[in-house]
Amino acid sequence: MVAKKRRMVVTSALPYANGDIHLGHLVEYIQTDFWVRFQKMRGHDCVYVCADDTHGTPIMVRARAKGITPEELIAHSHELHTQDFADFEIHFDNYYSTHSPENRDLCNEIYRAMQQSGAISVQKLPQLYCEHDAMFLPDRFVVGTCPKCNAENQYGDSCDACSQTYPAEELKDARCTLCGRVPVTRDSEHLFFELEPFHDFLKAWIPTRTAPDVANKLLEWFNEPLRAWCISRDAPYFGFEIPDYPGKYFYVWVDAPIGYMASLKKWCADHGESFDAWWQNPEAELYHFIGKDIVRFHCLFWPAMLHTANYKTPSQVFVHGFLTVNGEKMSKSKGTFIKARTYLDHLRPQDLRFYYACKLNGTTDDMDLNLSDFVSRVNSDLVGKITNLASRGAQMLHKSLGGRTGAMDDEGRALYRKALDAAESVAGFYEARDFSKVMVAVRDLADLANQYFDAKAPWALVKSDPEAARSVMTSVLNIFRVLAIYLQPILPAYAAKTAKLFNEAPYVWSDIEKAVENCAIQPYEYLATRVEQAAVDAMVAASKSEEQAPAPPAKAKPAAAFPPVKETIDYDTFAKADLRVAKVLEAECVEGADKLLRLLLDIGESKPRQVFAGIRKAYDPATLVGRQVVMVANLAPRKMRFGVSEGMILAAGNPDGALFVVAPDSGALPGSVVK
Ligand code: 2FM
Ligand code: ZN
Repeated sequence: MVAKKRRMVVTSALPYANGDIHLGHLVEYIQTDFWVRFQKMRGHDCVYVCADDTHGTPIMVRARAKGITPEELIAHSHELHTQDFADFEIHFDNYYSTHSPENRDLCNEIYRAMQQSGAISVQKLPQLYCEHDAMFLPDRFVVGTCPKCNAENQYGDSCDACSQTYPAEELKDARCTLCGRVPVTRDSEHLFFELEPFHDFLKAWIPTRTAPDVANKLLEWFNEPLRAWCISRDAPYFGFEIPDYPGKYFYVWVDAPIGYMASLKKWCADHGESFDAWWQNPEAELYHFIGKDIVRFHCLFWPAMLHTANYKTPSQVFVHGFLTVNGEKMSKSKGTFIKARTYLDHLRPQDLRFYYACKLNGTTDDMDLNLSDFVSRVNSDLVGKITNLASRGAQMLHKSLGGRTGAMDDEGRALYRKALDAAESVAGFYEARDFSKVMVAVRDLADLANQYFDAKAPWALVKSDPEAARSVMTSVLNIFRVLAIYLQPILPAYAAKTAKLFNEAPYVWSDIEKAVENCAIQPYEYLATRVEQAAVDAMVAASKSEEQAPAPPAKAKPAAAFPPVKETIDYDTFAKADLRVAKVLEAECVEGADKLLRLLLDIGESKPRQVFAGIRKAYDPATLVGRQVVMVANLAPRKMRFGVSEGMILAAGNPDGALFVVAPDSGALPGSVVK
């Protein structure tokens, strides 16, 4: 059936090592995994490689904030990421790291080739420089006032308040986050990869290697000379230092795609294979699955880099859209920014794979995970239609007919043939990454098999004509088995249990041809069970309350982004402030004031105090009840729109606006004096 054995290397984009895997990421890894498993089932030699994307300023900054080395940080992420992927049944042949010796060597080699081809130019760029720390400041090492909207404490590249981007030199009142001093602007030398020499090459390459909508968008840039790409970054930077260019590092986007090659190289070394036989072999195919936000890197810079270094360029770049949840961008406050681990804490991975398959169609359109549709599709289609065939057929066969199949009857055999006849069209849908059509084909066949089962009523037949009933169940189980084989790339554990039911090994595509007639089957093991809406609700609630990706550390650290210390006061003035330990009795949001929480505080007086505190963005009120805080008890009451505030509580404020309520160690009593 398989005309020619293909050799293919497949990749998914490398996730950054400084963040958790979430359901948006999984859209890509899950679909790549479907495709790779399908290719392997068809008998092709297919290797799926990926890695953590470990370099760049954000990783360095996060490690600093945690007080660990970047190497420690990326090792930890590697563990978390590989566990998440394994639990979602995403199988990489190699999952590596861009911080690897193979990657360093390949980067140097490709860079040398770029240099030799004359495509590297040197330009001077104005950049912020801290004379005290004697270094150029990466964007994340500068804070100041946004030049667009005047929001304070913004980074050097973009503003959290207005989302606009700008060059760091335009930031107002810029300060170095390391020492707090005002930086100067100095010229820094940088390396550029000239793209214009590849104008014609890329113009011809793009339409043959990407979908028309992607190509058309890219080709809009080709009416003008292509702009050179800055590939160097100044120290300090976590990455690879550029050969013969001390203090300068490859920009993370240089070594990230080269990481695909490095991961393959490692796989080859581990498996006694030749790298060239996989990457350079003209017969071998290379496919990248990526999101639509990183097309520029994969369809302009990357093919130009490979081309100039005499490496083979990708056969196709498959571009997908973003994930929305309930029709909207994933949102932390709505609990729809869901981490892979949080999903796994509440729901089964197989159900997400099933649902994603129902929705993925190989286009760049965004894909919606509608949570109530998710529940109903899993329950009605996977459990109610498809799995029902196996559970009814196998359980009845065991209960009444000794757990042995017989021969299919004519009607059943005709349906079984119909299922077999779908093989090539189903394979075509897989090849085209139109997984939604695979699911439609499988569901339609399951509908026919259920109708046949119901019409035959084997539960009654078993009493009057047990052998006829055995034939019905045999037919239904054989049709089910074909469907499970079709679904194996999407539901590998499910297909493995099916194989076990029939005493078989994991399936290859051609196994559909073998009918299971006149043989014993194993006891039925649950293949899929219903999803409960309550579990989905619990996952959303957990995502809402989760501390999302740790607060950006660079902003949390800057010494001098803090306000200067106020003028000196004498002890007597200080002693006037009466600070007390207070226990939070009640905490709630205040309607019409999105910054405030209303707290009811016990400070050992006969009546609790009411305080309005501006900490709502930092605390879920429920988590405050029962906690102890520190309160200024003799502050003059303040009349507010919502009521009287009878004091203030103490909270530490980072320059980025993050708030931390000040609390005594355990043991302090409500009302005790804070001195
Ligand atoms: O956008 C991202 O998440 C990048 N870490 C993807 C890198 S893909 C590749 F080129 F390595
Ligand atoms: Zn400084």
